[in-house]
Amino acid sequence: MKVAVVGPGAMGCLFAARLARGGTKTFLVDYKADRAARLNTSGVRVEDEEGVWTAKPEVVTAVPPAVDLVIVLTKAYSTGRLRFPPEVPVLTLQNGLGNVETLCSMVGSARVLVGVTSEGATALGEGHVRHAGTGATCLGAWTSSSPEEAVNALRNAGFDVEATEAPGQLVWEKVAVNAAINPLTAILNVPNGMLLELKDVRQLMRDLVVEAAKVASTEGYRFAQSLVETTEEVCRNTASNISSMLQDIRAGKPTEIDAISGEILRRAQLASLPAPRTRVVYQLVRGLEHH
Ligand code: PAF
Repeated sequence: MKVAVVGPGAMGCLFAARLARGGTKTFLVDYKADRAARLNTSGVRVEDEEGVWTAKPEVVTAVPPAVDLVIVLTKAYSTGRLRFPPEVPVLTLQNGLGNVETLCSMVGSARVLVGVTSEGATALGEGHVRHAGTGATCLGAWTSSSPEEAVNALRNAGFDVEATEAPGQLVWEKVAVNAAINPLTAILNVPNGMLLELKDVRQLMRDLVVEAAKVASTEGYRFAQSLVETTEEVCRNTASNISSMLQDIRAGKPTEIDAISGEILRRAQLASLPAPRTRVVYQLVRGLEHH
């Protein structure tokens, strides 16, 4: 099986390195030619509980035509700029809302697979990543593409993967968690666990999750487990993590606030639902991006 992983960030490097190490012919797609050339020489370095190891996926500047699966791990704001070969299934494991709709408009919903992952990855430098925590990856067809080959490829690479019939539900669950943890950690400049320590902030985090869940319910999603509890559990399990949004702010890069809080606000507006706390954190993170 040949797999292309698009996006040389922390997650893209982790997935490409583990697929390549597991024996899958793997391409890592990096649109920046100079960086791609450097990564082809250096390989991708991973730090995990086994120590430090290097894998050599083939780094290319565009998705090669003859692959069996494309895994998209770019930031959400880049999705619309990607290009895909015809007929190949495309799996998004990205953060945020709207990626699925964008991909469906580009390649057709029958080719789109959707998943979420709770693998933790921190970028330590170019092509250098720390596997900050192991977590499950769940994926399924958006409409009709079979997830089996993708599940097998990722399992062979050592990932803990399950197929799901309801990927949209999982995307919303992850977005609700991200809509609370990511902006608050970015605004306060604290690791995830600190959100539980500060009483007023913890309440605000809960309120943000409730706002997101209300918007999800206008799209027909209902959650069996309390998303507030899920979010607090994520904070505990990733207590020392620097969230991806705070990593972006510290690195002076654009964040995914638009695909997270911004999309929640857009959908709230469509449903005439107020989401005042989401609006404030959205505005503050926008401010930080231009600081
Ligand atoms: O975006 C992130 O950083 C992660 O999704 C999460 C779960 C908030 C952990 O840091």
